[in-house]
Amino acid sequence: MTDDFALAQRATPLAPVIAREIADGGGAITFAQFMALALGHSEHGYYSRAGLAWGRAGDFETSPEVHPVFGYLWARQVQECWDRLGRPTLFALVEVAGGSGAFMAAMLTWLRERAPDCFAATRATVLDGHPRRIEEQRARLAALGFEADRVEHALLDDWLAREEAVTGVIISNEFFDALPMHIVERRGEELMEWHVVVDASGALAFELREASTPALRAHFDALGVLPGDGCRAEVCLAAPEVMSQLARRLARGYLVSIDYGHDAPSLYASWRRMGTLMAFRAHSPQPDPLASPGLLDLTAHVDLTSLARAAQAEGCEVASHRSQAEALIALGIGESLDAARERAASDFAAYGAARRATETLLDQAGLGRIRVLVASKGAGIELRCLGEVG
Ligand SMILES: C[S@@+](CC[C@H](N)C(=O)[O-])C[C@H]1O[C@@H](n2cnc3c(N)ncnc32)[C@H](O)[C@@H]1O
Repeated sequence: MTDDFALAQRATPLAPVIAREIADGGGAITFAQFMALALGHSEHGYYSRAGLAWGRAGDFETSPEVHPVFGYLWARQVQECWDRLGRPTLFALVEVAGGSGAFMAAMLTWLRERAPDCFAATRATVLDGHPRRIEEQRARLAALGFEADRVEHALLDDWLAREEAVTGVIISNEFFDALPMHIVERRGEELMEWHVVVDASGALAFELREASTPALRAHFDALGVLPGDGCRAEVCLAAPEVMSQLARRLARGYLVSIDYGHDAPSLYASWRRMGTLMAFRAHSPQPDPLASPGLLDLTAHVDLTSLARAAQAEGCEVASHRSQAEALIALGIGESLDAARERAASDFAAYGAARRATETLLDQAGLGRIRVLVASKGAGIELRCLGEVG
């Protein structure tokens, strides 16, 4: 019998590259290695390949793609940060993982229009892991008049390797949840790890093996939690490491990360039997994260406890995280919608779009439940986005 589904799985340009990597790795690689290739292979990775579509036309929709109001509201927060830092004449606004460039485009547009003093001080940097994305981000911002004198574009690793520290804001949206992660499974007192192998039919398959590194057990020991017996869980060793490096690059200012995530006890709760890994294509969850490598977005929820601890270890104060819905309400999304309503008689289409965007961004079953983690260094942490909401 012909197994056409197995053939389809092997038919992406990346599949033979991964199969070679598995052969070179002695017959298995970790899921973290698989994910690094599936998302980041220089030519065929999901985020590095040509022609990646964003938003409705793509595989998933992030908040900056929903409506520019998301970036406008965060720009308000950026302006407040600038004020709290004593209005420095050189103010860094650094976005990690710039996507289509929509988030930075909206933040700079708002600052230019509504906060010209802050805009005059702002030197923006958009970071990404992939040269093709960086070129698209550069083109998008340049088309809006934000050119090299205002915005720098760089590879994240290059920027992290620099010595001098900046004063300002480092912000990211759905970055940490796209970093490669290991998948572990607790079996009694043992912590095993799911690896990726090539099965007898030639298709990529999961296989449970010994943990590839003691760092996985150490991760849980440090947290004082373990997944439930028989439960799968993701461990992203890279996320706290990148958070530490970002915090080190900050002399004074704020780190804001916006991601699907939970505190460790909730992320690793025993009712979460299969972890949180998801694969998406055309806005539909896909059953097999190993299928069609390079064509699926892969993502899992972030361990916010480890991220917060990483920032604290670098001298940051960390506030308890809020939902995106709470943060955007505190930043004034309701007032923005009221203003759009007042103009509805003359521009009903814009009001309709504003209403739909507000619902989408606040949706407690969707984007609204994303968590906002704020850390500050050498500056007060009582930011408007953390304000109490009724
Ligand atoms: C889910 S998208 C989010 C994009 C954007 N922040 C948004 O909200 O629309 C993930 C982004 O992370 C970038 N990325 C993935 N891995 C990365 C890495 N290791 N270093 C830097 N950027 C990375 C991708 O190129 C992409 O721009």
